[in-house]
Amino acid sequence: MTTAPSPSGRHRELVDAIRHHDYRYYVLDAPEIPDHEYDALFRELEGLERDHPELVTPDSPTRRVGGAVAEGFPEVRHEAPMLSLQSIHDEAELREFTDRMEREVGREDLDYCLEPKFDGLSVELVYEQGRFRRGATRGNGTVGEDITANLRTVRSLPLRLAGDGTPARLAVRGEAVLPVADFERMNDGLAQSGKDTFKNPRNAAAGSLRQLDPAVAAARPLALYAYDILVWDDGALPAPETQSGVLRTLAGLGFRVAPESRGDGGGETGRRSVWWEVGRGPDQVLAYHRLLIEQRDRFAVELDGAVVKLDRIADQEELGERSRNPRWAVAFKFPPGQAETALLAIDVQVGRTGKLTPVARLDPVLVSGVTVSRATLHNEGMVRALDAGPGDRVRIQRAGDVIPQVVEVVARAREEGAAPWSMPPACPECDRPVQAEGANHFCSGGWSCPAQRKARLVHFVGKGGMEIETLGDELVELLVECGFVRSPADLYRLTREKLLSVPPQPAGRPFDPAGAAELVRRLGAARNAPLARVLVALGLPGVGPTRAEAMANEFDLAALRTFSERPDGEEPAGHAEEALKALASPVKRALLEDLVEAGVIEGAPRARRGEESFRWEPDVLAAAVARFADKNALDLPRVSEGIAADLVNSGRVARPADLFELTEADLLALPERRRRPFAEKSAANLLRELEESRTVRLDRFLFALGIPHVGQHVARVLAARYGSLERLGSASREDLLEVHEIGEQVADAVTGFFSDEANLRELQDLADSGVAPVWEATGESTLSGLRIVLTGTLAELTREEAGELIERHGGRVVSSVSSRTSLVVAGDKAGSKLEKARGLGVPVGGEEELRRLAAGDVTLEEFAAAETGTGDET
Ligand code: IVH
Repeated sequence: MTTAPSPSGRHRELVDAIRHHDYRYYVLDAPEIPDHEYDALFRELEGLERDHPELVTPDSPTRRVGGAVAEGFPEVRHEAPMLSLQSIHDEAELREFTDRMEREVGREDLDYCLEPKFDGLSVELVYEQGRFRRGATRGNGTVGEDITANLRTVRSLPLRLAGDGTPARLAVRGEAVLPVADFERMNDGLAQSGKDTFKNPRNAAAGSLRQLDPAVAAARPLALYAYDILVWDDGALPAPETQSGVLRTLAGLGFRVAPESRGDGGGETGRRSVWWEVGRGPDQVLAYHRLLIEQRDRFAVELDGAVVKLDRIADQEELGERSRNPRWAVAFKFPPGQAETALLAIDVQVGRTGKLTPVARLDPVLVSGVTVSRATLHNEGMVRALDAGPGDRVRIQRAGDVIPQVVEVVARAREEGAAPWSMPPACPECDRPVQAEGANHFCSGGWSCPAQRKARLVHFVGKGGMEIETLGDELVELLVECGFVRSPADLYRLTREKLLSVPPQPAGRPFDPAGAAELVRRLGAARNAPLARVLVALGLPGVGPTRAEAMANEFDLAALRTFSERPDGEEPAGHAEEALKALASPVKRALLEDLVEAGVIEGAPRARRGEESFRWEPDVLAAAVARFADKNALDLPRVSEGIAADLVNSGRVARPADLFELTEADLLALPERRRRPFAEKSAANLLRELEESRTVRLDRFLFALGIPHVGQHVARVLAARYGSLERLGSASREDLLEVHEIGEQVADAVTGFFSDEANLRELQDLADSGVAPVWEATGESTLSGLRIVLTGTLAELTREEAGELIERHGGRVVSSVSSRTSLVVAGDKAGSKLEKARGLGVPVGGEEELRRLAAGDVTLEEFAAAETGTGDET
């Protein structure tokens, strides 16, 4: 005799089965069951979890889209620094690299792990006890953004690690990518609905992962390829000893990894399919690189090169890293893609500093996967050197993310003797005179040139500056165009009323063909909707999905319908009294009968009595239609309140039943929507952000001002040296030149900036509007130059806090122990790193020692001497 499993038993079965099929489908690309069977399992699990909410765990497959819409992303410090790779481009550079490896490792013909270089977004994934805990973007390599909720929606990311041997703590690095075909489909959809498209799959992947609404991220078919282990902490399980072992281990833990190369292996000519493999010596690396270029179109995702890594981890650790790159790996980039096309015109763009840049307007052409319609020509000299002009046929090239360039003119249109192209004498944006300065030309309009004004404001509020996140480039331009903002100080004079009065802007058509087809399909499917969903769709007071489920178990539709008609008669037994009363209202009765007529509710349409004359008020009808669209009701994509109102106001939907008769043509014909750029909420957000930015950190403010040659780093140096705007403003050129890292260019730019009347007025204006940058001197450089490894769990400090402490005092957190490590800070359950440090004689301390070193109570030398003196006790 078999007994039905308990709910928790069945739950476990379903979760295991779905996880298994997710892995087959999303990671191995080899499903075992048809989609509808999978859907049935999934629905069963959803139902079970609805009935038994106590069974839901955060790593249930139903919880991939669980996170709420975020306000922004909190920052997180990485478990270990996320390094980037030095690029090489040709055989000579490769041989230089392999020679150096052989020299430094002291062996010949080393093994290299050769991998495709995915062109996506690098992410860190942290697992504890086998469960996915957190995921973050690379950020600056030390601190990234917490995008856990969005990463959970990526189906090839395991929420729970597979296999028996899972380490206690694991941090993995991988690349989130959008397959090219999905990218193209997504862009077509965006284009058809009049929205901005993404330039390439990488931007699209990044845009999707940085969506504040995880549901949007979930709808984008992102994939994740894992390629590195950043942290492997486990008392018992040893970490892999080679990079090829890392890839196999990651695959065994359930990650998607590029498959291993197939074919005769290693050979120069044989028919091989290359993905990743181990190659020995430079010749095999070169052969791999060549084949990867030949076969790059076979990959579903964009690649931009090969990655060459020393295979043995011990060798990697010995070599360590240099600034932000490991010394044991390089990115061997693909040669840039080229194409020929027509040069339609040469436009002149005006930048933030007033610099005029000639830009080639091109007949759009595909270059290694990206449509290019513009290419930079840098300056007049470059146009002259190419001797390019409108009507020419040109060859363009695009390498990685750099702006496409014109390489040469293939066929010239200009007639013999005609004048070559030259810069206009007046700015194309403000008509003020153009001045030549060296090889470049500048508009003399300054703040009065609209192009410069927009660009300066965009920079002012942008990343690294005031960081007003609600103000994207387009909104800044709009505020300038409305005349609300002419200078940075104007931002601080914005009011709610002003923002709400910014006129509505075109927001694209509500449906593209795919969206329209999908909605029509769902409207058809609504005819079989379960009763609980119909109850939610009716919008009865207090009836959400859970209540509706309970009611659906108690009543049937016939009873509800009869009751709605004869409310004085016998009430169906049950507790939903208030909800039932509502059913007797004329609106709900009309709604119910309409749904019967549309076939959503089964039953014979009644001859209409009172309802016949029921007149739907447009707003009541629109609200009812929008309610149908709810996820827990009939789940109709894109039928927002606005669209519902459009459907009603355009006469396409005069009563609820009409909705179910809509055709794709009806939907495609809906007019373009217009949206107010600022609504109550976004206006409030902007004002709050501006308010908070009044006490911006001094270095960010200096960067925001856009002083020539003052980038983020120089701004920090200046802030640290001068501590206030006043002191910086009165510093002399000589004084500035005394500052370490400040050269003549910066000294001239800074003194120039502070002696310009217009700039001083602007600064005064900002101060009058309450902008008062602050600077708190950071810790002393007690750890300056030290390379510190953190391992194990510290007692009080989190890893983030320990990392911050180290950096604030001038030290650097490094990931692996080598003879060049200054100190290992070991906590509870420290594993192999601790052993290695002892083996190499690297000083080891705990949290307390770290604090004392940072506080300057003890120097590293004193500490190391004391440590060797007391011997080995932990
Ligand atoms: S290894 C220390 N392997 O390329 C190891 N990177 O700068 C550093 N990338 O930001 C990375 N595919 O996002 C590695 N198979 C691969 C990769 C890869 C793509 C990206 C990564 C990194 C950039 C190189």
